[in-house]
Amino acid sequence: MSPIRLVDRYAPDADAVFHTGDCLDLLAALPDGLVQLVVTSPPYNLGKPYESRLDLSAYLKQQQRVIAECVRVLHPRGSICWEVGNFVDDGEILPLDIALYPIFAAQGLHLRNRIIWHYGHGLHASRRFSGRYEVILWFTRSDDYVFNLDAVRVPQRYPHKKYFKGPRKGELSGNPLGKNPSDVWEIPNVKANHVEKTIHPCQFPVELVERLVLALTQAGDWVLDPFMGVGSTAIAALMHGRKVLGAELMPEYVSIARERVRLAEEGRLRIRPMDRAVYDPNAPARSAPPRIVQIGFKQQELSLTE
Ligand SMILES: C[S@@+](CC[C@H](N)C(=O)[O-])C[C@H]1O[C@@H](n2cnc3c(N)ncnc32)[C@H](O)[C@@H]1O
Repeated sequence: MSPIRLVDRYAPDADAVFHTGDCLDLLAALPDGLVQLVVTSPPYNLGKPYESRLDLSAYLKQQQRVIAECVRVLHPRGSICWEVGNFVDDGEILPLDIALYPIFAAQGLHLRNRIIWHYGHGLHASRRFSGRYEVILWFTRSDDYVFNLDAVRVPQRYPHKKYFKGPRKGELSGNPLGKNPSDVWEIPNVKANHVEKTIHPCQFPVELVERLVLALTQAGDWVLDPFMGVGSTAIAALMHGRKVLGAELMPEYVSIARERVRLAEEGRLRIRPMDRAVYDPNAPARSAPPRIVQIGFKQQELSLTE
């Protein structure tokens, strides 16, 4: 196993590129068609510490510029996954996926799923129902796209269920590899006592990105997160032998992303495992412990080492 080649500007032989600065600068340095998967959660224009709140049309114009560049660098068989919540103005919500969809459609992309990411914790609303989901818009560039369903199947609820009549009577009726995880994903969000929590106010859970990386890319492919934050996409990609490009405006978040990669190389980074059931206080024994990951690229082949 060789160390991760982590650099700060694009080089074809790097394993990870973390650019401190505007994502448009990183994107401008990338060749057309390089990236197999863009997965990101952009700023939601809510006035978080890392963003200045813009008028909605200025925000959408800014997003349009980034999206157009992401499409330029996307491989013909590649995918874009844009994870968003609501823009909130004076108590009124605008689901950002609704506002952003026309931008992707105008780029000629094809919407494959509108994935609901459901989680249990968040602010309690008093004048509307508390929000407990966000959305991932999954687009492909063409009708010929990578989709590795077997890599992300989840356990069948009734794995021993059999056909009870017809020519296949007595055979298992479900796929023994598991079932399709569907377009509603229940994954805990990264709040105070989550094992992956850093100082970032809205991190991706690594397991959310892992499912997209495994389903939509092959080992050795480039994955891009233009709004990288503390590098959750990078961890998910590197864990599975993919290469990663990320941009982040805030230097302290980039430092944390670098530190997370270093910890993972040393086999000391803890993440919540993909197959861990959501905590049930009535069945605590079902809860799997955090997983320790180790990343590193082998000399000859790009493969996961854990
Ligand atoms: C919603 S957060 C993403 C968090 C990330 N998914 C993670 O797991 O850490 C959006 C991030 O985009 C960064 N950002 C905002 N505008 C940017 C820009 N133009 N270029 C690069 N990063 C930007 C913010 O500083 C913030 O950390």
